[in-house]
Amino acid sequence: MIDSILNKARAGEELSVEEIAALLSIDNEAEQQALFDCAYAIKEEQVGKVAYFRGLIECSNICMKDCYYCGIRRSNDKVDRFLMEEDEIVKEALWAYEAEYGSCVIQSGERQDENYISMIERVVRRISERTGGELGITLSLGEQTEETYRRWKDAGAHRYLLRIETTNPELYARIHPEDHRMDVRKECLKSLRRCGYQVGTGVMIGLPGQTMEDLAHDILFLQSIDIDMVGMGPYIPHSDTPMGLEVPTYSEAQKKTALNLGLRMIAVTRIVLKDINIAAATALQALEYTGREQGLKCGANVIMPNVTETDYRPKYQLYDNKPCLDENSSMCRGCLSGRIKGIGETIGFNKRGDSLHFRNRVAE
Ligand code: 5AD
Ligand code: FES
Repeated sequence: MIDSILNKARAGEELSVEEIAALLSIDNEAEQQALFDCAYAIKEEQVGKVAYFRGLIECSNICMKDCYYCGIRRSNDKVDRFLMEEDEIVKEALWAYEAEYGSCVIQSGERQDENYISMIERVVRRISERTGGELGITLSLGEQTEETYRRWKDAGAHRYLLRIETTNPELYARIHPEDHRMDVRKECLKSLRRCGYQVGTGVMIGLPGQTMEDLAHDILFLQSIDIDMVGMGPYIPHSDTPMGLEVPTYSEAQKKTALNLGLRMIAVTRIVLKDINIAAATALQALEYTGREQGLKCGANVIMPNVTETDYRPKYQLYDNKPCLDENSSMCRGCLSGRIKGIGETIGFNKRGDSLHFRNRVAE
């Protein structure tokens, strides 16, 4: 049964929700390996065995949202809040540029006030000027108005990540307060697209109550909005959140289960969406040390090494057990480079590594 679905995928045929759910439900090692091998072959053929680095700058943990799963939610008063100076953000982006990363990602909690919006605008403009527009600039700053997205685009940003988190409306409503709305997020994704960004979204995998059918629908949603990039990772409880209190820290067996499902999601997404960029989320490494390279081995082609100053890292914990808290940017560079070479891939140093899907779509 699994074989015949994989053969269909290899032949380029569309898969149904049931077939996608069957691949996600695989529960034995041999079939799972066959799925990973199929996804890896498709990755190799579509985007090559090259991992692109995006230096991740976590520039502030101040957030006006209150998502029930997230460690930096507004109501978590144990968090020591910070906002980097503009110069610091620029400095970290330039570090990534000099480290030949090709792109950076600026991420923070969500803020929609003019002070913050104009600060980001200035920072993006400075990074773009200082690197002659060579360094790719991705933003991951939540829901904003189309005008804000346009201002940041005009300043020099060209990619945007905004996860939908889940496309099941009931599940979305269970993991967010009432004023956090999925339809707003969908509108934001459309705005980003109209502004001309390469657009990325994704979901959390393994949420309590989430089914394989939910995840299959998530993948078909990504396809239906013709997404350019996907960033998705396993849900991991954070002990100071409402959801973390309900499902406490994972046992070793739960970690393994969550990791395998996360990897199968990446593999199936590669099989269905083919030429997009897929990130091997850092959360994979919170479940197993080699989680991120395993992500590359089953279809991901992007990795986001942290380039945030070490002092800030412990303050930006979206989930428990986040890796690289004590390391600095050079250590992560050396560590990840070695690990990627270890799986026989090259690193796209000095390349922006734009989504091929985006290029194909714009060329049409
Ligand atoms: N586990 C996994 N991912 C999480 N995120 C937030 N909290 C968690 C958690 N507990 C993810 C969300 C968000 C991204 C920045 O981090 O998907 O979009
Ligand atoms: Fe940060 Fe290995 S990636 S220490």
